Amino acid sequence: MKARARIPLTNGWDHAMEVMSREIRSIKKSGRVLEILEAGCGQKWDLDIGDGGYVLTGIDLDPEALRIRLDKTKDLHEGIVGDLRTADFGQRTFDVIFNSFVLEHVPGAQQVLKNFTRWAKPGGLIIIMIPDPYSVYGFTSRMTPHWFHVLFYRLVLGWKNAGKPGYGPYKVIYDRVVSREGIRAFCGENGLILAAEYGMPSSHGLSNNSPKQKLVEAYKKALQVLSLGRLRSDYNDIIFIIRKPALAAEVDLPASDALHA
Ligand SMILES: C[S@@+](CC[C@H](N)C(=O)[O-])C[C@H]1O[C@@H](n2cnc3c(N)ncnc32)[C@H](O)[C@@H]1O
Repeated sequence: MKARARIPLTNGWDHAMEVMSREIRSIKKSGRVLEILEAGCGQKWDLDIGDGGYVLTGIDLDPEALRIRLDKTKDLHEGIVGDLRTADFGQRTFDVIFNSFVLEHVPGAQQVLKNFTRWAKPGGLIIIMIPDPYSVYGFTSRMTPHWFHVLFYRLVLGWKNAGKPGYGPYKVIYDRVVSREGIRAFCGENGLILAAEYGMPSSHGLSNNSPKQKLVEAYKKALQVLSLGRLRSDYNDIIFIIRKPALAAEVDLPASDALHA
């Protein structure tokens, strides 16, 4: 395996949410309603893009997860039960497509990415999060069966509803495109700009320094050493900030550029 390009890390979950929220806020314009598609919306999101000025449409294959989102979380303007591989929005396009921890579960992820490319407005943002298949966390989830994931969520993470309708974990697939290399290549081949990538450390809700968390960290470090450093233990997930080029020269300084300035 080739040495992998370096990746900046976010400072945990809250910082990652802030980084992505800032990206979206940076394209909000007064007097214009931002059209956001949350693709594979599940039960909730943790972004904070301010009050008003946007319409949030959620789409998900799991009707029970969508029902919880609509009835309990109540933050969607519109909820659609649908498959990202085959959904049809007609001529409708979106300023932002947000896709969090979905692609690793989809056989046919390339088709989903093609649809995102079509559904995004010129100048729009596509924000994707996936577990890095070459983090110890992602590697372990690829190499272990689904029943093991359900047990891990129930017994280690303490999710009582794990495996029930509407609740994760969802079956892990990992098509070839669902990796840093795959997303980079997809962007290059489809005229998209990969504006930023971040690695995101995550404790999955385990309290700091709890025995369970220490055990998980020890396992991750051991596997990093055994893999001769090829699997990363310092972060689990990757965030991709992708931009679809604008048609005319309309240049605002986006948050990701400001971050690197
Ligand atoms: C791990 S959950 C993530 C949910 C939410 N985005 C989050 O970050 O909490 C994965 C979600 O993707 C949805 N999903 C999986 N395959 C899908 C597909 N082909 N089309 C639409 N949604 C899909 C699942 O139903 C589930 O709600």
